[in-house]
Amino acid sequence: MALSLIVLAAGLGTRMKSEKPKVLHELAGAPLLAHALAAGRALEPARVVVVAGHGAEAVRALAQEIDPAIEVAVQEQQLGTAHAVAQARPLLEGFAGDALVLYGDTPLVRPETLEAMRAARGRADLVVLGFEAAEPGRYGRLVVEGDALERIVEAKDASPEELRITLCNSGVVMADAPTLFSLIEEVGNDNAAGEYYLTDIVAIARARGLTATVVRCDEEETLGVNSRAELARAEAVFQRRRRAEALEDGVTLVAPETVFFSFDTVIGRDVVVEPNVVFGPGVTVETGAQIRAFSHLEGCHVSDGAVIGPFARLRPGAEIGEGAKVGNFVEVKAAEIGPGAKVNHLSYIGDAAVGEAANIGAGTITCNYDGVMKHRTEIGARAFIGSDTMLVAPVKVGAEAMTASGSVITEDVPEGALAIARARQEVKPGLARRLMARLRQIKARKAEQEG
Ligand code: UD1
Ligand code: CA
Repeated sequence: MALSLIVLAAGLGTRMKSEKPKVLHELAGAPLLAHALAAGRALEPARVVVVAGHGAEAVRALAQEIDPAIEVAVQEQQLGTAHAVAQARPLLEGFAGDALVLYGDTPLVRPETLEAMRAARGRADLVVLGFEAAEPGRYGRLVVEGDALERIVEAKDASPEELRITLCNSGVVMADAPTLFSLIEEVGNDNAAGEYYLTDIVAIARARGLTATVVRCDEEETLGVNSRAELARAEAVFQRRRRAEALEDGVTLVAPETVFFSFDTVIGRDVVVEPNVVFGPGVTVETGAQIRAFSHLEGCHVSDGAVIGPFARLRPGAEIGEGAKVGNFVEVKAAEIGPGAKVNHLSYIGDAAVGEAANIGAGTITCNYDGVMKHRTEIGARAFIGSDTMLVAPVKVGAEAMTASGSVITEDVPEGALAIARARQEVKPGLARRLMARLRQIKARKAEQEG
């Protein structure tokens, strides 16, 4: 059956104390809303509607960036979750399939859980995702009888007896779309918050003779982000899950709790990740590569058997070839490091191509920026760049060419040539000793005058 996804994201998020709409705050390098959308979109919905309010334009921009087919309904005033869902109605007019309602600030819900809800639709008209709460607090309580869900009562409106219920409402609901919208029509706002509660649809459905049931998930999955502290908690949960997945997939993490992943990190088998490594967005590491301690990677691709770090920084556009080495205090940006090439120490390689098996000496810098424009450096296969070479781009060093240490290379170096571009050395016999003696004399005279 066709599915439509409705993601509620109109709330202000006052407790974030932020200029930014809450759902745009990032978890593992991606906005909260992107996480919720990814979980929902894993079910391949035919339609996706995001209900935006506060910061609607920024929310719309993100939704469009994720997929231009995502539609946005604007809820001008936040009158409650049922009112929010109602805003999606005009867009979904005539849609005959099921609707799944998610919250944009609940990033950890798993696609498997949503699949279980879809399966449960076979046995009930309305499916609500619930969880056993360690501290039920402000959550809505699920009033059940056997397998049937009778109603949901918000904490604010609950009796002391109802407050003792620990089975809580996650907010995720699934029903036939026309039925959902027709149930919402009947929701009023005569309650403690004066809001139109989506949760009221359960009792309304039951009164109509429809059935409702609960699918349970881990409390962790329903963690909603309302404050920076909760954002940090959600991040911790994400990282813990992701580390466990990496280990499960055959990645060695020497100290898992010190490695940080992004939402889209891809790591192959037999990769070894040493302690204190950060993967920013857009990183792929192939089989058998080694990411050594204290390295920071983002927007890059590391091929089979390459060794990165310790203390390396790979920035967007770094493409590291098979078996290549990028060592300590090396930064690579928008550059290909060819198979087997080595950049072992203290270098900056930006806007460049380094050929196969080339050797880049310590302290090499591609001077890629003239203050206005960026220029490229090309280094051929098996070239040998002497330590402390400045490569003033645009410049090319041919295959098997060499540059002498300390050279400032401003002109192309042909294949197989040696370029020396540094001042010639002069040697003054005895001058060092004479100079030192003179300096000591000056110092002694000064001390005499002052004392
Ligand atoms: C809601 C549920 C509660 C559940 C809890 C789980 C209702 C009435 N209550 O309570 O049973 O235990 O979530 O976290 O549904 N939103 C809008 N427009 C609105 C109101 C809310 O888009 O007018 C969005 C918010 O941005 C948020 C989500 O809906 O993403 C939930 O709203 P929130 O006000 O946080 O609901 P809770 O009071 O937490
Ligand atoms: Ca909430």
